Amino acid sequence: MKKKKLWLSTILLIALVISIIGHSNSLKAASSLGKDTLTMITSPDYPPYEFYDTKGGDRQIVGFDIDIAKTLAEKLGFKLQIMESDFNGLIPALQANRADFVMAGMTPTPERQKNIDFSIIYYEAKDTIVATKGSNLKQPQDLSGKKVGVQLGTIQEQNAQKIAKKVAGIQLKQLNRVPEVVQEIKSGRIDAAIVEDTVAKGFAQANPDLEFNTIPSEEQSGSAIAFPKGSSFVEPFNKVLQQMKDEGTLNKLVAKWFSQNTANPVSSTPAKGGLNLDFTRILPDIPFILRGIPLTLLFTLLSVSLGLIWGTILSLLKILGIKPLTWVANAYTSVFRGTPLLLQLALVYYATPQLTGYDISALQAGVLTFTLNSGAYMSETIRGGIQAVDKGQSEAAMSMGVPYWLMMWDVILPQALKNILPALVNETIGLLKDSALVSTIGVVEILRSAQIVGANKYIYFEPLLFAGLIYYVLVMGMTLGASALERRLRESE
Ligand code: ARG
Repeated sequence: MKKKKLWLSTILLIALVISIIGHSNSLKAASSLGKDTLTMITSPDYPPYEFYDTKGGDRQIVGFDIDIAKTLAEKLGFKLQIMESDFNGLIPALQANRADFVMAGMTPTPERQKNIDFSIIYYEAKDTIVATKGSNLKQPQDLSGKKVGVQLGTIQEQNAQKIAKKVAGIQLKQLNRVPEVVQEIKSGRIDAAIVEDTVAKGFAQANPDLEFNTIPSEEQSGSAIAFPKGSSFVEPFNKVLQQMKDEGTLNKLVAKWFSQNTANPVSSTPAKGGLNLDFTRILPDIPFILRGIPLTLLFTLLSVSLGLIWGTILSLLKILGIKPLTWVANAYTSVFRGTPLLLQLALVYYATPQLTGYDISALQAGVLTFTLNSGAYMSETIRGGIQAVDKGQSEAAMSMGVPYWLMMWDVILPQALKNILPALVNETIGLLKDSALVSTIGVVEILRSAQIVGANKYIYFEPLLFAGLIYYVLVMGMTLGASALERRLRESE
């Protein structure tokens, strides 16, 4: 009876995995050759170029670049699919052929051109210094001895480095997203930031305590569309872009996005000292954050079940007594326990397409990494559980002529599992919370949703606290469920 249930759940699980993999395969099929859909990747932290519109719980990326991309796709007869990542992950995504093009206010530079191709420039830009009003940080030389923030992987980072070579004592702080950079000025952790003019303008309008001053420079910079090296799309894109310039469509979009203020204002005056929480400001965004829950749960369920299977296999390899197998399993465990999970995640996500040619989705990369990692931890727990089962039982079974595998499956493993149930619950709770790490590769789960809302509204505390509450409720629910299960198991003994 019990075994039947076990089999049933295993089959269900496999079906689930296949359906997830199948689903992302269909995305992939659409973006491979002969396709009707173009995949664009962007970093939606950059109003008015691209940013999130979260009104009404929707998750929509909008902006100047998005409108251009839509027009381009339409004129070329494609559907458009938009993916996201932090800015510093865009070029790796192109190199891994994970997207057909990037639009993210990206500036062509000689270094970038070594790895990717660019279209013609569609909008000119200049760098500015953003600082609080009255701080008198207006020119590069004013930055001497100051902390200066920039977005990681941008030309603003490079330019700041160049300035730092000429002006003494500048301390750079690289952050992943532009709203974070602005927030750091407001909270006084940095003195100034280098930000592109149109973006700076929006933020300064939305935050009256900030000002920006253009850095004089001979160098031209501007935004262009980026493609994987050798892409056949460069030419048709250029043609349509030129057409949009000539017809004035581009100018219309410039007027639409750059004359209005798109950056969101900051909560009145930021609370200095005392805590003034205002959850009503995130009320409209709560459905948006809640939408991360099913994904987080599915992710945890998959990783735990697959990790358990993999961990069991590893633990058997360890106790079989065949030297090379034990050695391999031990080495595996030591590598996966000895390196950071976050690093493993980035490696699996970014290296898989390059090594295998398979375009692994962020969610798949997450499940795979968490399975590999938790398998390593669980294998030790399970090994302990197996070894704790009374030796007499296996001896008895063996002397009755029961084959080794049958004895393992029927006698030893069920007891071991029962013994290590609390440890497994711990592992599951750990995985549930660690699932927040997949937000770094662009999966919009609970934490990432909260961060998006925070970035849009300039309130960090409330959405993060709310996300914390969701995690806590989920973990509590799981703990209660687990103790009920444990009780039932004990009663059935
Ligand atoms: N133009 C700059 C660059 O290419 C910054 C672009 C940042 N874009 C963004 N979506 N955050 O490096």
